[in-house]
Amino acid sequence: MTLQEKTPEFGFTLHGTDGTARLGTVHTLHGDIRTPAFMPVGTVGTVKGLYLDQVEGTGADIILGNTYHLMLRPGAEEVAKLGGLHHFIGWKRPILTDSGGFQIMSLSKIRKITEQSAMFQSHIDGRKYELSPERAMEIQRLLGSDIQMQLDQCIQYPHTEKEAEKAMQLSLRWAERSRKAFGRQPGRGNFGIVQGGINPKLRKESAEGLKSIGFEGYAIGGLAVGEGHELMLQAIEHTIPHLPEDRPRYLMGVGTPEDILESVARGIDMFDCVLPTRSGRHGQAFTRFGKINLRNAKHADDLRPLDPEHPCPALSRYSRAYLHHLIRSGELLGMMLLSWANIAYYQSLMQGIRAAISEGRFEDFRVATKEQWKRGDI
Ligand code: GUN
Repeated sequence: MTLQEKTPEFGFTLHGTDGTARLGTVHTLHGDIRTPAFMPVGTVGTVKGLYLDQVEGTGADIILGNTYHLMLRPGAEEVAKLGGLHHFIGWKRPILTDSGGFQIMSLSKIRKITEQSAMFQSHIDGRKYELSPERAMEIQRLLGSDIQMQLDQCIQYPHTEKEAEKAMQLSLRWAERSRKAFGRQPGRGNFGIVQGGINPKLRKESAEGLKSIGFEGYAIGGLAVGEGHELMLQAIEHTIPHLPEDRPRYLMGVGTPEDILESVARGIDMFDCVLPTRSGRHGQAFTRFGKINLRNAKHADDLRPLDPEHPCPALSRYSRAYLHHLIRSGELLGMMLLSWANIAYYQSLMQGIRAAISEGRFEDFRVATKEQWKRGDI
């Protein structure tokens, strides 16, 4: 008798809550994602400056890829020909791909949004492209991503209410088309994206509209675009009550360790951000003791590592003096070590958050973590 292999279902298990913070697991074709989760950004198929072994070693269950970048280079059909994104880059765990909506807004200088699609010029060579909700989903299917985002329109802050409403309504209509184009893909999930700027009424309408279409998960988009920490938290608070409890909630493009801690406290399950790797390349470390700018002259003679107790060698093995020297010299290794250190710190923060929620002490953890950041060094 041969055993039939069964494709795992995509799903979300909510293990428990502590206040409004949630502990859960997202189940995908390529394995489980423990939530709250931080997803390192691997825009073009690489978490910049890190080997995949290092990314895995930090405890990341999932990484992110981008429709926008990968459709331009090497091309979605090309990646599919090479066996899909997992095979192409050698990552065996889950991958989430963003749909391109946000990157068109932030990277492409020339763009035109119509009911049908987004037309834009590549930031690489100026070639013209069209991205419709259907094509965005087709690309993500070709990439073989485990979590595929709807195409949406994200607007900058500040914005008028009219602009926010128009983009939100278009995103809702695109959500419906994206959902249809996603079809049925066992083990893979399709997330809708709530828009609506900082307007509570629009956020509610967006969340309810998406809920009635029905997605495997719900993202909150259009934040961390210049509105600041407090307005961002308010927008989250205005959105969460309108999202279903039994589906994962993903806050897109966020953020600093403090943004993450405060958003988990309000019921967010998943995060992604370029901050740990981008800041690392610029000499900034995120640690248990807060932010440390290694470019600063005060580190030139400091033989202490960033955090002697951290299991990641990037934090515990190399002295601040050495990291300062590498960054000041523009050395690749300095950028690599700090990117690694930051991803490792973010993952240990998420691990600490998950342990605290599971033991019913999240509020104490939140307060103590923020105090330690403020107190600073050892
Ligand atoms: N990344 C950060 N914010 C957003 C957003 O609003 N939409 C999409 N698609 N991606 C994002």
